[in-house]
Amino acid sequence: MLLYLWPLILIIFSQNVLADYGGELSAMKHCAVCHGPLGISARPDSPNLAGLSPNYIVKQLKLYRDGHREHELMNVVSQGLDDSKIQELADWYDSLDVEVTYWNPTKNEQAAQTCSACHGLIGISRNPQAPTLAGQPEFYLVNRLRALREGGKHLDASMVAIANHLSDEETKKIIGWYSSIRIQAYRP
Ligand code: HEC
Ligand code: HEC
Repeated sequence: MLLYLWPLILIIFSQNVLADYGGELSAMKHCAVCHGPLGISARPDSPNLAGLSPNYIVKQLKLYRDGHREHELMNVVSQGLDDSKIQELADWYDSLDVEVTYWNPTKNEQAAQTCSACHGLIGISRNPQAPTLAGQPEFYLVNRLRALREGGKHLDASMVAIANHLSDEETKKIIGWYSSIRIQAYRP
């Protein structure tokens, strides 16, 4: 009886795995190598994409593609993406449900008060312009804040100003806070 059921179980299982990898959206499988199958980062240099608004993902992918946001990997990865593919990818990531699974209120929550109006205190942003910071890898946040401090034509001016007003000590605490939060993503 069990033997008889095995092929069926295997089919169901492989379909679930495929669904986890984005099913129909094959472009997304490339992204999974660095950003994880469900948009939870697989490498310290790569941010989570789960939890980012479609607005924000579209904006950043176009900046990379058009050479305005510089990064050796993302500039290459985004080359083949036209506007409709970019929208499709952003919508796919937006279709994921994101849940905060752990945070430690004693870990410098205070430090993030200045960021919470836009990014959320637990780092889940409700503002489509401002990205979710919860659970972003520490290494990525360090790089990104450094880039914001250095400034540049296509960076958000208010965010550049905020980054420039932070002391090194504050920056370290805030990064510690947001990167210590854990999030998980699900295919609903
Ligand atoms: C080889 C690894 C790699 C692959 C493959 C890759 N990325 Fe990235 N991605 C990165 C890294 C590293 C960064 C951080 C770059 C930086 O610091 O600006 C990044 C950043 C991003 C960002 C900016 C997020 C933010 O919070 O600002 C978006 C959006 C993004 N990637 C989308 C994608 C999509 C969509 C795909 C698939 C089409 C993809 N990436 C494939 C490594 C990768
Ligand atoms: C007034 C609203 C506002 C406040 C307050 C604010 N931010 Fe931002 N932040 C933004 C916006 C908008 C962006 C997206 C910029 C863009 O589109 O390039 C951003 C982007 C970022 C990024 C890049 C994230 C990524 O995924 O690449 C980091 C890191 C960041 N903010 C950290 C902070 C920190 C730390 C604070 C508090 C000290 C803070 N922000 C306060 C609006 C804000």
